[in-house]
Amino acid sequence: MDERLDSFTPPLGPGFGPELLLQIPPRGGRRRAVEEALRSAIRDGRLRAGTRLPSSRELAEQLGLARGTVAAAYEQLVAEGWLTSRSGSGTRVAAGASTPASTAPERPVPAAPRHDLRPGQADSSSFPRDSWGRAMRHVLREAPADAFARGDARGRLELRTTLAAYLGRVRGVRVDPSHVVVCSGFTQALTLLTEVFAELGTDRVAMENPAIGDHVRIVSSRLDVADIAVDADGMSCAELSASGAGVAVCTPAHQFPLGMSMAPARRADLLAWADEDLGWIVEDDYDGEFRYDRKPVGALQARRPSRVVYAGSASKSLGPAVRLGWIACPPPLLEPLVEAKRRAQPTSPLEQLALARLIDSGGYDRHLRTVRRSYRHRRDLLAEAVASRLPRARVRGIEAGLHAILELPSGPPDEAALTAALRLASVDVHALGAYLRDPLDREPRPPSLVVGYGSPPARAYRPAIDALVGRLSELGAG
Ligand SMILES: Cc1ncc(COP(=O)(O)O)c(C=O)c1O
Repeated sequence: MDERLDSFTPPLGPGFGPELLLQIPPRGGRRRAVEEALRSAIRDGRLRAGTRLPSSRELAEQLGLARGTVAAAYEQLVAEGWLTSRSGSGTRVAAGASTPASTAPERPVPAAPRHDLRPGQADSSSFPRDSWGRAMRHVLREAPADAFARGDARGRLELRTTLAAYLGRVRGVRVDPSHVVVCSGFTQALTLLTEVFAELGTDRVAMENPAIGDHVRIVSSRLDVADIAVDADGMSCAELSASGAGVAVCTPAHQFPLGMSMAPARRADLLAWADEDLGWIVEDDYDGEFRYDRKPVGALQARRPSRVVYAGSASKSLGPAVRLGWIACPPPLLEPLVEAKRRAQPTSPLEQLALARLIDSGGYDRHLRTVRRSYRHRRDLLAEAVASRLPRARVRGIEAGLHAILELPSGPPDEAALTAALRLASVDVHALGAYLRDPLDREPRPPSLVVGYGSPPARAYRPAIDALVGRLSELGAG
C-alpha cells in the first residue's frame, strides 16, 4: 500500500450510500485530501456514475472532520463536474465522470431454446414460492442465533431429524439422524464420496453406462471408473463382479437416462456383490418421489443400510436453485464423510431449516402431490402424441420421474442428425448416445431421444410436444 495513504475511513455502512474505502493521507490539507480521494475513486471506476454519496454530515462523521470541510470538497467537485448536487436526490457521481472498471463486453448467455425438452430439469415455474416463503419467514423469526453461523458439518440437527423420518416414511430408508449428512445436492454428495473412497484406498468405481457425464467426470477426477452396461433389468452384476471395483454408483429406482427400475433379482445380486466383496453401493435416488403407476419401490438402502450409501436431492422435488441434498451414511464412512464436508463448501443452514419446516408443516408433501399430478399429465400427453403421430416410435421406461426415452425406428436419420434437425426447429432434446461412454455402442440399437418433460412451464408444454412430434414426423422418424 502507498505509505502516504495509511489512514482510511472504514467502509461506509447502511445509510451512508455505497460501501467505499476512501483513502485519506494522514498529513496535508484536509479538504484537498477528501477531494482527491473522491476524484481518484471516480476516475478509476470504484464510484460509478449515478452513485449517491453520503451527506456531508455523514461523511464528515466517518472521517472525523468538520462538516464544512467535506461540504467544501463536495462543492468544489460539483464545480469541476465530478459530482452533481440536487435537493431531494443528494450528491451523486456525475454521468460520464467515471471510467467503468471493465470495458470487456459480457459474453452473452446462450438463449434458452424455445422448446426446452432437455432431461433432468424440474418445472421452475411451479416452485412453491408461498410455502417456501412462509417456511423461510418462520426460520428468520424463530431460528436460534447459531443458525446464522456455520454450524455442524453434518448439517442442522432439525433437518437431519426431519429427513430421517421423511425418508423412512416415503422411501423406506433406515437411518438415524446422526448418520445423515446434509450437502449441496447430489453433485456435492458424489464429490465428497469420491474423496472419501479415494482416502480409504479404493481405486476403482463402477458406474452405469449410460449415465450423466458430469457425474462420471467427478469420480474419474480422482479414481478409475469401470463402465458397466445396463440391460433391461438394470446395471449388469456380472460386469460389476468382473470389474474389480470396490464401489458401484447406480440409480436403482429409475435408471438415468434409460428409465427402468432395477429388477428385484438384480437388486438381490447387487446386494450379494456388496456383501461378498465388501463393496459399497452409492444409490442415487434423484427422483424417487415421482412414480405415477402406483408401484413405488423402496430404496435399496432399506435392504442393506450397512453397505448402501443413499443420496437424495431437492433438485427434482423443489428445483436446483435450492442447493440441498442428503446422504444416509453407513457408520464406517461417516467420519471421513463429515471431515470431507467440513473442508467443502458449506450448505446454507437457513435453507436447511426452511426445508425442515416445509416438510414438518406438510407443505412439502402437498407440493409433491401437486407437481406429481402435473408431471404425470405431461408424461401422458407425450405418450398420446407419440401414439397418434409417430406410430412406429415407442415411449420407454417406467411411468416415473421427469424424463422418458423416445425410441424411434432404426435407420436414418441417426440420433445426431435428429437432434440437429430438431434444434433447427427450436426443440432441444438429448440423444441417448450423449450419455453412453463407448464411442461405438456395444450393440446396434434404435436411435433414441431422452425427452425431459419437466422443464417447460405449463402453457409451453403442449406446443413443445407438438413441435417435437411434428418435426420427427416430417423427418420420417416414427
Ligand atoms: C441422475 C441424476 N442424479 C442426480 C441429480 C441431482 O443433482 P443435483 O442434486 O446436484 O442437482 C440429477 C439432476 O437433477 C440427475 O439427473
